[in-house]
Amino acid sequence: MKVISTERSQILAARIAEALDTTVVDVQFSRFPDGELYLATGELDDETIIVGSITDNDALVQLLLLIDACDDSTNRLIIPYMGYARQDKQFRTGEPISARAIAHLFGEEVASCLTVNIHEQRVLGYFGIPASNISLASEMGCYIKSMGLEDPLILAPDDGALAFARDVAGVGGWDCDHLEKTRLSGSEVKMAPKKLGAASRSVVIVDDIISTGGTIATAAAMLYRQGADEVYASCVHGVLIGGAYAHLKASGIRDIICSDTIERGCSRITAAGHIVAALRSG
Ligand code: R5P
Repeated sequence: MKVISTERSQILAARIAEALDTTVVDVQFSRFPDGELYLATGELDDETIIVGSITDNDALVQLLLLIDACDDSTNRLIIPYMGYARQDKQFRTGEPISARAIAHLFGEEVASCLTVNIHEQRVLGYFGIPASNISLASEMGCYIKSMGLEDPLILAPDDGALAFARDVAGVGGWDCDHLEKTRLSGSEVKMAPKKLGAASRSVVIVDDIISTGGTIATAAAMLYRQGADEVYASCVHGVLIGGAYAHLKASGIRDIICSDTIERGCSRITAAGHIVAALRSG
């Protein structure tokens, strides 16, 4: 067995390989003069773990090329971050179910698929192959424990993230609550005022994704108005588009923590251990 990855998931793939006591495949990535993506793999094995987060369109194409290059082996696919999963249903007439369209691309040459904190579980049903999802809530809880905060409040920015926040809070037996969020546009959210008991407390806002940072920056402003001592942000997938990290720091967030499903400077939680456990049990 060997582990192979797209350019975007090299570090996580190496961690997975190390935990599996195997090696990563050396892959050469480049582009044709017209901009099309090219890759060539080194020596493969008869069983391959293919790791590729769908962070953008190039990452998706690279993942498809990689799967095709591995078609002589038995492949298990890991999609640590599945982009397009937020368009998991038709919200308005005329829209595609993008998550379904993407999932359908992976049916032919992989035996199974594993995702990490996929935005919506129903997307797993679109793959047409055995597909499962793991959650990094306990890893996040352990990281927060290592921060040594006194009696932190774990806060979900909306009720959709509450189950995840509860699992994180369960690690330390901490208080857990959620905000009421209304999305005004792709980059703007409004928080309905709520009595959170955040005064003089350390608050950790946890979510599956930080994209523009708008959700958490708005939440942080509200929490500081309520007298919170310090506010941290932790997410599984640090999409962090459009200067989101700086936006969060400027809004007073003390620290931003994410996992290595998207490889960032602030990726301080690894998904490798949990992925390997799932591979071993599956
Ligand atoms: C949405 O339902 C997700 O769970 C996140 O709350 C959202 O993607 C965060 O987006 P942003 O950082 O752009 O506010």
